[in-house]
Amino acid sequence: MTILVTGGAGYIGAHVVRLLRQRGERVVVVDDLSTGSASRIGDEPLVRLDLAAPEAVAVLTDAMLEHKVAAVIHFAARKQVGESVAKPAWYYQQNVGGMANLVQAMENARVDRLVFSSSAATYGQPDVGLVTEDMAGAAINPYGETKVIGEWLGRAAGVAWGCRFVALRYFNVAGAGWPELGDPAVLNLVPMVLDKLELGEKPRVFGDDYPTPDGTCIRDYIHVLDLAKAHLAALDYLDQEERPHDAFNVGTGTGSSVKEVIDEIGRASGLDVTSEVLPRRAGDPARLVGSPELIEKTLGWRAEAGLSEIIASAWEAWQTGPRHIG
Ligand code: WQD
Repeated sequence: MTILVTGGAGYIGAHVVRLLRQRGERVVVVDDLSTGSASRIGDEPLVRLDLAAPEAVAVLTDAMLEHKVAAVIHFAARKQVGESVAKPAWYYQQNVGGMANLVQAMENARVDRLVFSSSAATYGQPDVGLVTEDMAGAAINPYGETKVIGEWLGRAAGVAWGCRFVALRYFNVAGAGWPELGDPAVLNLVPMVLDKLELGEKPRVFGDDYPTPDGTCIRDYIHVLDLAKAHLAALDYLDQEERPHDAFNVGTGTGSSVKEVIDEIGRASGLDVTSEVLPRRAGDPARLVGSPELIEKTLGWRAEAGLSEIIASAWEAWQTGPRHIG
């Protein structure tokens, strides 16, 4: 069977494409290459398309029929929180409009399996030690709102025409499964610290006066290869007739502070990571760590890599990988 992967040329999508190929699945990638790169997907067929474009439903329907697509993994989306605050209508057009086109094409082509990239951003700023799946729907920015709505749409398609749907809510993804598939963007903590170090500048800590043990924010860092494996488990889950849950945290249940991450980067790289403390960044919750209990119990998936492996792989990819080609 063929799996259609939207955003398959991106950082996370390309890891999933590679795992699918290793498992012997056929793959077709749909990507507008605005942030992804065709070099990441080798010889896989590529449909170059903006999912939000007017012709997207027709193009996607044709691609699904032509390639005999059995299931879709949907990554393609805009994902910068700050940008979403500045351009909310565009985020809704891209993320909600694009997904609506995709789901319409699935209905047209009778493709009834969908794995959706959701986000811990659906939780907003929860005041708990471990976030559980029932707490979603409290997004505090347009990016997170588009992910909440994407989950609603997937469920509604299930009610309307039997779409089998599962949402994976990612926590803080980092690292690389293969050095050449490292994160080319400098938008999250790990690449931002590496970028500063490369420039000979001090890494920046956005606030050290949070109510956490060392005063810096705590997040749940997950290795991109572990995250990619969760998608294969989710696809298999959609084959089951009984599916008691349709949204899962993809986290480790272990939190690491900004300081701990920066120290780990210092250990992996051997560089001096003496940091500069800046004021808090707006909208950052003090702690966001996902309970992995439901996904472990239901999909039989659990994260294998800890922080040191995540950072070691990010460092290797940073030195040898493709970060400079957006
Ligand atoms: C992590 C921590 C920063 C850079 C965002 C999205 C979320 C998700 C992942 C989507 C925070 C601190 C950062 C730096 C720092 N999804 N920091 N110095 O904000 O947890 O989550 O990305 O695609 O939806 O909101 O991730 O990596 O930006 O920050 O101190 O140079 O590191 O303040 O506490 P975040 P992040």
